[in-house]
Amino acid sequence: MDMEDNWLSMWNDRYREKSYAYGISPNQYLKAQLDQLPAGKVLLAAEGEGRNAVYAAIQGWTVSAFDISIEGKNKAMQLAKANETHIDYKVGPLTELNYQVGEFDVVALIYAHFPPSIRSEYHSHLSSLVKKGGKIILEAFGKNHLPYRSQNEKVGGPNDQAFLISIDEISTVFKDYEIIELTEKEVVLSEGTYHNGVGSVTRFIGVKR
Ligand SMILES: C[S@@+](CC[C@H](N)C(=O)[O-])C[C@H]1O[C@@H](n2cnc3c(N)ncnc32)[C@H](O)[C@@H]1O
Repeated sequence: MDMEDNWLSMWNDRYREKSYAYGISPNQYLKAQLDQLPAGKVLLAAEGEGRNAVYAAIQGWTVSAFDISIEGKNKAMQLAKANETHIDYKVGPLTELNYQVGEFDVVALIYAHFPPSIRSEYHSHLSSLVKKGGKIILEAFGKNHLPYRSQNEKVGGPNDQAFLISIDEISTVFKDYEIIELTEKEVVLSEGTYHNGVGSVTRFIGVKR
């Protein structure tokens, strides 16, 4: 097994568990942002078991989501069904999913920790899918997170500095965006089994110029 297979197996194994790894409630930062916007078209990147996608669909958004994990998709479709709502969910490499340039009002990256080797390509690609005046909404573990994880493993997140997201990286890759918020801060997470406790997260809201 190579590194890519291990990575995919890790996510599929996690999502084969009966419970929802990060719960069935949406990420609170994303929810607060979506609740202020008129419903439009949203893309949830690396969406896992669908907690954010299903919330957005219930609020009237037209929802697209993608991930590498088929088990994540299976759980997400179950959650959508249980809530009598609809989401479009694709599995595979972003470059093969045929999303259109400027298609989305919002692209959300919630704990979308892509491998470092593809991250900047993925961020640029995702940026191209946002329409002019549309938004990127991002929350992910930041560069100061590892000491928090060492103190309390239950807070979760990558155990490798290279997977963490810095403010500098975000301001560089999303340079075409007006920054509404860009910060790394300490927050208390309570999301399912795998995000519990105090961690350091990077948050970004940008509007495409
Ligand atoms: C911490 S989980 C977050 C899931 C979801 N966004 C949420 O907040 O509940 C990280 C997700 O990234 C996905 N992922 C990792 N590498 C990926 C890639 N190259 N392309 C798409 N998704 C990927 C994993 O399968 C996993 O679902």
